Amino acid sequence: MGLKKSHNKMSQKIFIKTFGCQMNEYDSKRIYDIVDEIGYKKTDRCEDADCYVLNTCHIRDKASEKVYHEIGRVKKIFRSKKKPIVVVAGCVAQAENQEMLRREPYIDLIIGPQAYHKINNQILNLSKKQKVEETDFDAVSKFEYLSRIKNKTGKATSFLTIQEGCDKFCHFCVVPYTRGPEYSRPFDQIIAEANSLADQGSKEIILLGQNVNAYSDKNQRLSDIINEIEKIKNIDRIRFTTSHPKDMTDDLIEVYRDTKKLMPLIHLPVQSGSDKILSLMNRKHTVKEYLKTYERIKKINPLVEFSSDFIIAYPGEEEKDFIETLNLIKEVKFINSYSFIFSPRPGTVAEDLQTIDKKISLKRLEKVQKTLFDNQIEKNKSLENKVINVLSENQTKDKTKIFGRSEYMTPVIFEGTEKDVGKILKIKINNSNRNTLFGNIIDSLDQKVA
Ligand code: SAM
Ligand code: SF4
Ligand code: F3S
Repeated sequence: MGLKKSHNKMSQKIFIKTFGCQMNEYDSKRIYDIVDEIGYKKTDRCEDADCYVLNTCHIRDKASEKVYHEIGRVKKIFRSKKKPIVVVAGCVAQAENQEMLRREPYIDLIIGPQAYHKINNQILNLSKKQKVEETDFDAVSKFEYLSRIKNKTGKATSFLTIQEGCDKFCHFCVVPYTRGPEYSRPFDQIIAEANSLADQGSKEIILLGQNVNAYSDKNQRLSDIINEIEKIKNIDRIRFTTSHPKDMTDDLIEVYRDTKKLMPLIHLPVQSGSDKILSLMNRKHTVKEYLKTYERIKKINPLVEFSSDFIIAYPGEEEKDFIETLNLIKEVKFINSYSFIFSPRPGTVAEDLQTIDKKISLKRLEKVQKTLFDNQIEKNKSLENKVINVLSENQTKDKTKIFGRSEYMTPVIFEGTEKDVGKILKIKINNSNRNTLFGNIIDSLDQKVA
């Protein structure tokens, strides 16, 4: 690409601090790939950075205040050093844009999630001492650009964004405003990236989208992508996240019947167990419809488990609505789930609704988390003394152990060496706690694989 030649400052260093969801993690990795074109190399030491990027999240709490706080930290780190180029990327950048440049002159560049393909030009232009804001929604150009640059992940497990944005407009959520309208990447572009990831040693591909199961390119759906990746020899595991219950179409449910590689955990956020609250949230489905999807998948493949997100104390949530959420958690036995107290977000329909008393909200959150944790502890306990398949991802920091994940995404720690990384191994589970399984590698398969 032309930019490379025109840039004379080779081997500058870039550091990216990433907040938020896996889509931001994917984007951060791809920003590293993009800026490599103009000679910026990744550093893990923030104090060495010539370019410091904050890839931000706007989903909850005081998101923009957190960014200003972070900038304060960066200022301190570089107080007696040359100031790096400071870039604010991600969903806060999209939401706040010009306002951030006005409020914090230390920021040089604001770039929204659909404009990363412009980052090289913008960094090069900064030498002309201009401040820049790029927040157009231009997902087509972003992914066209990315498809021409190798995804150099080199990891056992890799994210692959297939869809961005959201048209659902749940009343609590900023995503439709920060990521823009729903956009599905072309099918061939996705399969080419999956093949390239496999060639670089990835064993697992996690397909990403804010509404990943709303994917639609001509006649191709998410089920077609899964079936096509299933044919890639070196890929052993496929996952997708995050799904919306309304888009769990028959073709996708059917994939669970014959698949060998799609992992048996589906993250399908329900948010609440009360129809009244689901309606107030504009979720577009009922509890009964959710349970119907659950039962159909369980019938096709009883090994599949569910995880979810829950919003607690949404405006209007009465004790009886909350009890319905607890009951649903007990019925579905969700594992690995997330729960949050409702946080009013600027620009959303729910922004100005009357919030629920803080003490009541916290009490409800504690109860929900206890119920979710009980499910998790029970699931992990049930795996003790069993042998399970684990994808080993990396060595621990002290290099004495290996970190991997079970088919249900649960972290597994076991003794091993570098040569074990990037393989699916049989691990006998000896112990467990709420979050983690502990075990050892076994050579022969003389016990049942869970
Ligand atoms: N697209 C996904 C779906 O439809 O469920 C979720 C995407 S969102 C990035 C991740 C989670 O953040 C949501 O499932 C929800 O539980 C939580 N969340 C979003 N907005 C929130 C808010 N205003 N307050 C608390 N939690 C929120
Ligand atoms: Fe947000 Fe998900 Fe609702 Fe879209 S479907 S508005 S991303 S919670
Ligand atoms: Fe946060 Fe944006 Fe993801 S708001 S959760 S980084 S889509």
